[in-house]
Amino acid sequence: MKHDNLAVIVLAAGQGTRMKSALPKVLHGIAGRPMLAHVLQAAKALDPARIVVVAAPGAEPVLRLSAECGAEAVVQQRQLGTGHAVLQGEAALAGFAGTLLVLFGDTPLLTPQTLLRLVDCAQTDAGIAALGFRARDPKGYGRMITERGTLLRIVEDKDAGDAERKIDLCFAGMLAAPAPGIFSLLHKIGNQNVQSEFYLTDLIEIARRHDLLVGVVEGAEAEMLGVNSRAQLAQAEATFQSRRRAELMDSGVAFTAPETVFISADTVIEPEASIGPYVVFGPGVTVKTGATILPFCHIEGATIAQGCSVGPFARLRPGAALDSNVHVGNFVEIKNARLENGVKANHLTYIGDARVGEGSNIGAGTITCNYDGAGKYFTDIGARVFIGSDSTLVAPVKIGDGAYVAAGSTIDGNVEPDALALGRARQVNKAGYAPKLKERALARKAAKEAQKGKS
Ligand code: UD1
Ligand code: CA
Repeated sequence: MKHDNLAVIVLAAGQGTRMKSALPKVLHGIAGRPMLAHVLQAAKALDPARIVVVAAPGAEPVLRLSAECGAEAVVQQRQLGTGHAVLQGEAALAGFAGTLLVLFGDTPLLTPQTLLRLVDCAQTDAGIAALGFRARDPKGYGRMITERGTLLRIVEDKDAGDAERKIDLCFAGMLAAPAPGIFSLLHKIGNQNVQSEFYLTDLIEIARRHDLLVGVVEGAEAEMLGVNSRAQLAQAEATFQSRRRAELMDSGVAFTAPETVFISADTVIEPEASIGPYVVFGPGVTVKTGATILPFCHIEGATIAQGCSVGPFARLRPGAALDSNVHVGNFVEIKNARLENGVKANHLTYIGDARVGEGSNIGAGTITCNYDGAGKYFTDIGARVFIGSDSTLVAPVKIGDGAYVAAGSTIDGNVEPDALALGRARQVNKAGYAPKLKERALARKAAKEAQKGKS
C-alpha cells in the first residue's frame, strides 16, 4: 500500500569496528545480499514517499546500493552517533510533514509487518513509537526503562548501572515519529555519555519533557537482532535461513533435511520441487515445479525447469539453463550453457559455453574445451545427438542434429547432421603377444633380484 505521508531514514554510516573488516558493516551479506539491501527491501515494502540512506564519506558501494534500491543518500561526514546520523536527513526531508521511520542498516531481519505496526502506533497516537523486544541476552542493547507500561528513557548498555543492565526489554533501533517536529528535538540531544556520542535513544527523554506521547511496540527477538560482530552476522544468517526454508516448505517445496540446505536471498523454488540434503543455492537460481535436486549440489546463476533431475554432486554455474526434463548427474559441471528438453548428461562431464539440443545424450567424461588460454569459444550440439564417453569437443565446433560421436573422440571439426564422427587412433590387435610380454617382464624382475642377492 502507498504511504505518501511516510519517509524512512536508514542509518548506514557506522564504521562497524567490531566486525574487524575493511568492508562497511552494512554491506556484509545475509544470504548473499548486503544487510542494507535487506533493510531497504523491508522499507520499500511499505511503499513510502521517500527513503534516505545515511552513508559514511567515501562509501561508494553504499551509495551505489542505495541508488539501485531506489533510495536517496546523504553523507554523514563524521560518525558522531545515531542521533547525529538521523539529523543528516533533515535537509533532504525539508518540507516533509508526515511520519518519519528510522531504521538501522545493521538489523537485517526486520519484517514489513512489524514496521507497519510501529508506524500505525506513531500515527494513531501522533507521538513517538519505539520498537522493543525481550532479549535472551540483552548485552550490548539499549535498555528500555519503563514505569507502569510507559517508556521513560532508553539507557545504552555502556552507560547502564547494574540494575538497569538486568532489564531484558531492549531497543531494536527502529522508531517512528512525526516530522518535522522530531528534528528540532534531535537538535537538543547532547553527548555527555561514556562514548561521547549523540545518542538517538536520548530522544525519548527529551520527547517526554516536551509532552510528546511515547509508546513501545514489542516485536519478536528473531527479527530484531542487531549485527555488530561476525558472530552476530552468522546468527542472523542462521535465522534468515530457517525463516526462508520454513516459508518455502509452507509454499509446497519438499526438503529432506532443510537444516542442511543454504538458500540465497533471491532463490526462487516453486511448489512441488524437491531438494535433497546438503544443497547450496548461490545467487540467481530458479527451480521450477517438479524438479528434483539430489544431495550435495552447488547451484548458482542457473534456471532449472519442470521435471529436471540434478545431482547428486552436480555443479551448475552462472548461465546454466536446463529446459524441461533434463537429467544432470554426478560430477557434472555446467556453465553458460543451455540444455534443451530431455537432454541427459549423467556422469563426470564439463559443459561450458554451449547449447545441447533436445533429446541429446552426453556420455560420461565428455568435455567441451571452451578455453584456449585467451578466449572462450562456443560448442553447438544439435538435437538427438549422441556423444560417446570420454569425448573432447574442441570449440568453436558444431555438431549437427542426429549425429553420433564415437567414444574417446577428439572433435575439432564440425560434424554434419546424422554423420558418425570418429576422432581417435585405430585399434591394433597382435595375436598371442600378451604371454611373450609377460615372460619378458618376469625375466627382468628375476635378473634384478639376482643382482640384489650378490651385493
Ligand atoms: C544501537 C542503539 C541501541 C540499540 C541497538 C539495536 C543507539 C545509541 N544505540 O546500538 O540502543 O539497542 O542499536 O541494535 O542508538 N550509525 C550511523 N552513524 C553513526 C553511528 C551509527 O549511521 O554515527 C549507524 C550504524 O551504521 C548502524 C546503526 O547506526 O547501522 C546503529 O549503530 P551501532 O553503532 O551499531 O549502534 P549499537 O551500539 O548497536
Ligand atoms: Ca548495532
